[in-house]
Amino acid sequence: MKRILVTGATGQIGSELVPVLRDKYGRENVVAAGHRRKPEDEFIDAGPYEIMDTTDAQSISALVQKYSIDTIYHLAALLSAKAEENPQLAWDINMNGLQTVLEVARHHHCTLFFPSSIGAFGPSTPPDNTPQVTIQRPNTLYGITKVAGELLCDYYFKKYDMDIRGVRFPGLISYKTLPGGGTTDYAVEIFYAAVKNEPYRCFLKEGTRLDMMYMPDAIRAVIELMEADARMLTHRNAYNITAMSFTPDQLYASIQKELPDFSMTYEVDPIRQEIADSWPHKMDDSAARAEWGWQPEYDMEAMTKEMIEKLRKEGSHVT
Ligand code: SER
Repeated sequence: MKRILVTGATGQIGSELVPVLRDKYGRENVVAAGHRRKPEDEFIDAGPYEIMDTTDAQSISALVQKYSIDTIYHLAALLSAKAEENPQLAWDINMNGLQTVLEVARHHHCTLFFPSSIGAFGPSTPPDNTPQVTIQRPNTLYGITKVAGELLCDYYFKKYDMDIRGVRFPGLISYKTLPGGGTTDYAVEIFYAAVKNEPYRCFLKEGTRLDMMYMPDAIRAVIELMEADARMLTHRNAYNITAMSFTPDQLYASIQKELPDFSMTYEVDPIRQEIADSWPHKMDDSAARAEWGWQPEYDMEAMTKEMIEKLRKEGSHVT
């Protein structure tokens, strides 16, 4: 039986991954760890919750021992725009945090999942059908920590024979927990405005094409990769995965099909626009498809319909 620790458990991915892991492996076998003193009730009621600093090896080690952890999903990180605001903190959390977790995992023989990102690419990367193996010279602090993270995970895999796996996530769209300070956040915020019948001011300009994915696909990808036969995995850290690729105007049109009165204008944030302009338009995820059977289920239309339906139902979450 797996005994799992999830760092960053109260974040956008963690808040949806933890319940799925608990259903699958048993509530007592999945420890949610976050930095919030007071997490959502669902964490307190649904299974073990611990407050943790991902740069403090001793406290992570103590948790791993306390719960006999054998698998860590290390999700704690600052997103791209937040990282540009505070590069020192981003380095500390994203880089030192990962290295600390890798060391704890090494000492306690844990398997590790590490999420990389489209942010691991940069302006000199081919933006269309971005290959699995290509130029990675990102010019954001977030991207630098993601490339270094990929390389560090590969290093620990090779040098210490550890089982470490990762994906390069595109922008993730979800209705449960808002992302905190990413460049692709517009594709989430837009739905919150639409459902409240409010106009939306998009911070990326018309025509800015980026890879995206609906959260249920992202969660399934993580679990399928972690359950894949290790002998099939050649690329490991980290696999390109994508589900859809669209521009703000295309998403706007897709929402308008459901909500014809919805309106959107543009107020471009130059910092996030520059970040977005340095990222791929559409990644080639054929390595993930070939090595562990990756296959997305949601396209933009299906995702749009479900986001609107879920946000309407979950009215209390719409802030
Ligand atoms: N969604 C992330 C961000 O925008 C990219 O991985 O920062």
